[in-house]
Formats: sequence, structure tokens, C-alpha cells
Amino acid sequence: MQKLAAGNWKMNGNSAALTEVSALLDSHPAPACEMLLCPPATLIAQMAWAARGSVLKIGGQDCHAKASGAHTGDISAAMLQDAGASYVILGHSERRADHGETDAMVRAKAEAALAAGVTAVVCVGETEAQRDAGETLAVIGAQLEGSVPAGATAATLVVAYEPVWAIGTGRTPTIAQIAEVHAFLRARLTALIGAEAEGTRLLYGGSVKPSNAAEIFAVPHVDGALVGGASLKAADFGAIVAALSAA
Ligand code: PGA
Repeated sequence: MQKLAAGNWKMNGNSAALTEVSALLDSHPAPACEMLLCPPATLIAQMAWAARGSVLKIGGQDCHAKASGAHTGDISAAMLQDAGASYVILGHSERRADHGETDAMVRAKAEAALAAGVTAVVCVGETEAQRDAGETLAVIGAQLEGSVPAGATAATLVVAYEPVWAIGTGRTPTIAQIAEVHAFLRARLTALIGAEAEGTRLLYGGSVKPSNAAEIFAVPHVDGALVGGASLKAADFGAIVAALSAA
């Protein structure tokens, strides 16, 4: 399994920010893990051009469940692929919260991604209230079961565990909490997709930064990270890539 360092730029960055891509590739031209950046849709084609001939993969942050049609403002998985993306983040908690995305919608989008040859990075994670109520594994299990696309394989699916309360807050779960969820994810995914689950990358996301990356990457069944804020600067993301390469 090749581990994966994925960056989610969210609604940040314009063409001037592409200097971060060249800086990242100058400092990490051949890391021992896979590197992925998911910029806003407006930057996908430009970033793909900036990354041409390099190991850096490009991804979208969402796609529509349909391949084309009368869906003003939406983008299909095939369009992402045409623009240079090979991955798409789906079901991020910000989309679940801001756009009312349900597990069924996330699964439909993930199936569209697979049909377009785009790898789906499906996000799951509990809120703080759910964790406090002892519902973490039940919530994550239900999200996983509801969101994982039919026919998913290790090559076409990545699962990201992102506790909602750890995103953009500087707070992270304990190592034991991350270990518990990731072991649970591997087991539940095995029940869902069989042996393919063994090679499916399970990412941790939520306030990953250079100072905590190494200890998180040492946790069993953590096969990489989905990084928000710290992916915007090449120096920070590069340090996370280096930590994953060394793990
Ligand atoms: P963060 O975001 O690293 O800024 O906490 C993670 C994410 O939402 O993917």
C-alpha cells in the first residue's frame, strides 16, 4: 500500500497560490508516499498544468451524482477528470453541514466518481456531541455503510476519518481514540468490501500539522492524512509529506 498525504484547500487560493505547488515539488520531487492536493474547482486545471510530469496528484472537493445535465453550478466527476483530477473528496463534514449532504447522496456521488475513473475520498466523522454521548463508532459505522460506493476497491476508494470537532480547531483526538476508530474502520470496511479493505487507505484528518503528524502516522491503520489548513503552505504540507514518507 502506498500511503497518501492529501491536502484540502477548501475555499482558499487563487492562481497566485500556485507558487506553493512549485515550492512543494521543488522540496519533495519524489516522496515515499503519494501526494494529493485538492484545490477549489477554479484551480484544478491550472494546478494540474503546474504539476504536469510530477508525482503530485490533483483532486476535486465535491462532484455531482449525475454525469451531465441541467444542474446549474454543479460539476460532474467526468469534468473533474477532464480538468486533470484523479481524486475527489466526498461527504466532507462541511458539505454534509452546509449543503445537507446525506450518506445516500455521498454514495451516489462516489458511484459517479468511480464510473468516471476518479478515486473517491469518502469522509466520515462524529460531532463532539456524538462523541460525548458515546455514539462515535455507531455514527461512523452508519456513515461508512451508507456512503461507501458499490464495487469499491482499494484503488478506487479512500476513507478519511475526520472528527468534526477536530477540523480547523487545533484540537485532535488522543492517539488511543484515533487507533480505536481506525481499527474499527478497517474491520467494518472488510465487512462491506471484503479483502479490498486491506489495501484501502484510511486517512486521519482534523488539525494535522507538522508537529503532530509523526505520532499520528505511527498509529496502526492510519495510512495517511487529509490536511486542511496546513496544506495551504508548501513548507507545512511538505513537512507532513516527509513525516508520512518516514512512517
Ligand atoms: P484542518 O481540516 O486540517 O484545517 O483541520 C481538515 C479537513 O477538513 O480536511
